[in-house]
Amino acid sequence: MNFADSEVVGSILTGVGYVLCEAVEEADFVLINTCAIRDNAEQRVRHRVRELRAMQNRHANLRVGILGCMAERLQSRLMAEEDNVSFVCGPDAYRRLPDLLRQVREGQKAAEVELSTTETYADIEPVRLASNGISAYISIMRGCQNYCTYCVVPYTRGRERSRDPQTIVAEARTLFERGYREVTLLGQNVNSYRCGEVGFPELMAMVAELDPRLRVRFATSHPKDLSDELLQVMAQHENICRCIHLPVQSGSNRMLKAMNRKYTVEWYLDRVEAIRRAMPDCSITTDVIAGFCGETEEDHRQTLELFRKVRYDYAYMFKYSEREGTYAQRHLPDDIADEEKTRRLNEIIALQGEIALENNRQEVGREYEVLVEGESHRSKERLFGRNSQNKVLVFDKGDAVPGTYRRVRVDDCTAATLLGTLVG
Ligand code: 5AD
Ligand code: SF4
Repeated sequence: MNFADSEVVGSILTGVGYVLCEAVEEADFVLINTCAIRDNAEQRVRHRVRELRAMQNRHANLRVGILGCMAERLQSRLMAEEDNVSFVCGPDAYRRLPDLLRQVREGQKAAEVELSTTETYADIEPVRLASNGISAYISIMRGCQNYCTYCVVPYTRGRERSRDPQTIVAEARTLFERGYREVTLLGQNVNSYRCGEVGFPELMAMVAELDPRLRVRFATSHPKDLSDELLQVMAQHENICRCIHLPVQSGSNRMLKAMNRKYTVEWYLDRVEAIRRAMPDCSITTDVIAGFCGETEEDHRQTLELFRKVRYDYAYMFKYSEREGTYAQRHLPDDIADEEKTRRLNEIIALQGEIALENNRQEVGREYEVLVEGESHRSKERLFGRNSQNKVLVFDKGDAVPGTYRRVRVDDCTAATLLGTLVG
């Protein structure tokens, strides 16, 4: 999401004459787009800001600004705490950046942190900042009002709002015409996308029907809203990728209730079954939090149990990090010791590692259509790409070129990668 937002910011600023630099040393402004979801994300930003201070000592014109969720959360406090920061700008205020930067050039400090109920940046064509020319993000909705009790996002990104579907389809079409072959539709909770008559399943169909050679992915789905209609639309369109990110957060009903997730383990497993019924080859990935308030050993064991049942292809695994202003911070004690959180997290990581490797072993001998993305990071002699399930395949170059589809047979694997041979 931040990556997509940075591309909108890039577009707004290049539109008024600013130029993107290759190196920090050449810059007059450094804008850091930030995440506030866990404390360690914020600590990394603070570390980076302090590193830039040394550079500012050598280069007096260099100004540092903070964008995104951390700017929204801390507002002017951030400029008081990090005195080399000249401006902060929240996620709904990027259209004000040209003004902000002008004020800063005049020697002032400035903050724009107002949230909006309507801003979607629908009319702004993002500059593709670090793009490979093959795969791009398209933001389709912003904000979240689910208020999971641990989560700061509803406070930093504001109310849910959906972007006009025609502008989304037009953006996807332009990308396809420029040679892109994959778009990922992004939102905090894409299943609650709605603009007039168009809900998320309809939107997916509209984008997928632009061209069968354009792959369509999406993230993220809240399990409570994953509808059978969406699964049907996916099953009917081969170019909608067979991969669903379905954050579970915990395998314990008691914890899910405390987290205000609005579903039970039974409901979640029913959704997993519905996915497998509609698309037996669909991969499923998740997010999970270890050591939330009041989590017992039994709750933790139930999370491990759920992981064994679902057998995720990939998981993003986190320790609970208390966030100021959330319901949990105000009402639930953060009562699991850090070492205990770490132990539980490590158990989940170890189990998921075994499952991912076992899942990948099952892939040996299968063939997949792979969208070739570029040279393998490990070896110039090999290429890498992804299959519809979003798994990375590495294979000998042969005559394959990035941006095209090729058939690859899987010969071997690690927990993270499939190793294969071009067969078509
Ligand atoms: N602590 C730890 N993890 C969190 N997430 C959200 N808030 C927190 C928090 N306070 C995780 C959730 C979410 C992912 C994006 O980040 O798993 O799905
Ligand atoms: Fe945070 Fe829950 Fe919204 Fe996801 S759905 S962004 S975890 S409040």
